[in-house]
Amino acid sequence: MKAALISLVLLLLFQTILSQAREKQHQRRRDDAALQSNLLEMIIPFYCTVFFIESPCKGKPLDFVFIIDSSRSVRPHDYEKVKTFIINILKFLDVGPDTTRVGLIQYGSVVQSEFSLKTYKRKADIEKAVQNMIHLATGTMTGLAIQYTMNIAFSESEGARPLDMNIPRIAMIVTDGRPQDTVEEVSGQARDSGIKIFAIGVGRVDMSTLRAIGSEPHEEHVFLVANFSQIETLTSVFQSKLCGAEDFCALELHGCQHLCVNVPGSYVCRCYDGYQLNNDKRTCSKKPSLEDQCKCENVIDFQNQANEQMRKLTQRHIL
Ligand SMILES: *[C@@H]1O[C@H](CO)[C@@H](O)[C@H](O)[C@H]1NC(C)=O
Repeated sequence: MKAALISLVLLLLFQTILSQAREKQHQRRRDDAALQSNLLEMIIPFYCTVFFIESPCKGKPLDFVFIIDSSRSVRPHDYEKVKTFIINILKFLDVGPDTTRVGLIQYGSVVQSEFSLKTYKRKADIEKAVQNMIHLATGTMTGLAIQYTMNIAFSESEGARPLDMNIPRIAMIVTDGRPQDTVEEVSGQARDSGIKIFAIGVGRVDMSTLRAIGSEPHEEHVFLVANFSQIETLTSVFQSKLCGAEDFCALELHGCQHLCVNVPGSYVCRCYDGYQLNNDKRTCSKKPSLEDQCKCENVIDFQNQANEQMRKLTQRHIL
């Protein structure tokens, strides 16, 4: 909402300046195209400042862990682009011990923790640590990295806040490769333990691997970009996901057992195919198939339930 208003104000400002300039142009006859580009040059940095520096996600504490693919296939200049991407994401996080804590691991054939959720208290120190990271340039043990994230990076001894504080646990993995180990099971375990995983694939990544890693719904958590130059296009996407008031499901599942889905002004829980939402509007149970409903034990179950209801009714009337 705030972002929309600022955009509108900027647009009006731009229009006003442009029309004033056009009036003057009658006297000075300057080149319109050059004028426009000059104005854009003035306005774009302002716009970027407003959006990327002046608006960290206030009041939304997170425990946030980056998982960075540091395998051999990532070329040195691409590794630098990943660093820039991380630093751009950091810009809009409200970093601090009581707000957002940030950890980072990189992996190749082994997993290497660069800093944990409790290592740094200031954003500037985290940025410096990211700048100083050294490319491992070995294998691609993605499953191992996710296991480390679940068991160690998000442990309380490494600085994660207790689950009952309800601080969203976010992991963002950036990978360009096909893992050398399996990811399905360990990713599922990590998600079930309460970690929301954003999976970013770069280049010719196997989409089914990415989907096996990322949280559901996949449209909101799984991203594929053509190359490392394109990764910067995701910065604004994540800003709205991590800070945006419009995305009610981005950080919290609100206790939805299967899926959290945005609806105008709020969210609702949904279930996977073949399941239905229970009366609590959060949990799901398997839809009884037509065949199941006709099974003998279900008929007996139904009779028992009916008897129980009758008993309650008659008791109420007697008492
Ligand atoms: C990256 O991908 C985009 C979109 O496919 C393409 O336009 C661009 O040329 C690519 N850049 C590099 C450095 O390969």
